[in-house]
Amino acid sequence: MTQIIESYIDQHKLALQLRPILVGELFLAKKLKSSAYIFRDQLFVEIIKETQVATKELITRLIKDNIREVYISFDDYKEIKSQLELALIKLTRSLSVGDPVENGTKHLKLLSLNMSGLYQDPHNDDLLMLQVQSTQNLSKFLLENKKLQSHFFQNLVNENFHFTIIQPLLSSVMLLSFLQSIHLFHDKEIESLFLTSYVKDLGFAIIPEMKYDQKILSPHDQNLFAQHANFSHDLLDGRIPLSKNYLNIIKYHHFLNDRMKEVISKDKTNNSNQDMGFGLEIVLVSVFDMLVAMTHARPYRRPMSLYQSLEIIKRMIADDYPQEFKALVIFLKQFFRQ
Ligand SMILES: [Fe+2]
Repeated sequence: MTQIIESYIDQHKLALQLRPILVGELFLAKKLKSSAYIFRDQLFVEIIKETQVATKELITRLIKDNIREVYISFDDYKEIKSQLELALIKLTRSLSVGDPVENGTKHLKLLSLNMSGLYQDPHNDDLLMLQVQSTQNLSKFLLENKKLQSHFFQNLVNENFHFTIIQPLLSSVMLLSFLQSIHLFHDKEIESLFLTSYVKDLGFAIIPEMKYDQKILSPHDQNLFAQHANFSHDLLDGRIPLSKNYLNIIKYHHFLNDRMKEVISKDKTNNSNQDMGFGLEIVLVSVFDMLVAMTHARPYRRPMSLYQSLEIIKRMIADDYPQEFKALVIFLKQFFRQ
């Protein structure tokens, strides 16, 4: 049962008192001390009364309605964030103990939810270190559990979390799986590329969350989005155990965007013949980012089929990387068959 808060003064008070959490983080709430709200049509609407429990049905409904955030009191916020951190630390330390399917599925979910805290507070070193350590352990665990990689990927898709939360991890899991399948990289390199791919969008922290779902962006906002890779690089430089080479991958991870626009618009008159001299690693990080983005829905567009997305990627990279493109097609058939 929802209740719109009618009073202007009460709305104003709530705006000062409440903190946003992701809908998925409600799974970690036991009983809320105060009411929880969503923000709809510029008004706070109460969705959970104080001392009530956020039921699984309610959380699932909110996710299905594409609600990204829920607003709660500062006390409830602190409690949920600390529950999330504790759960992630505990699971990171014991990933290989017990049922790998259950552990991996839960770890991907907790890691994604915890990452959203870093988007809100990108200068928080403790949060960044927790993300880095958890990601490093996860990449080792994924490499050891090759047969479960596509299963973990699908389980995270099924959470239906907002795309900003799961996109980095989905593309990184698929990238890791592909890199392992082609036997060109050492495990250490794969682990570093996994971390690189996963943190590459931290610069989204500079973009107001309300912009994520907008179909039409002003030139100023477009510029803001275009800047996120640079911001990711600047936010992470010197704070993360990645060498300059990997930090540069973060900085230029959208270097294929212009080529993709040309392919999609079929604009052959403007074939810029962009330099592909960036190296295979960055091409693969970019391609898996694009592939996952294209094949999943956004609030403002439908998903493309895997076949359509591969056609676009083929036209972008197959001339420069024919063997790798062939390997990608074979890999994807296998990945989605499991
Ligand atoms: Fe990006």
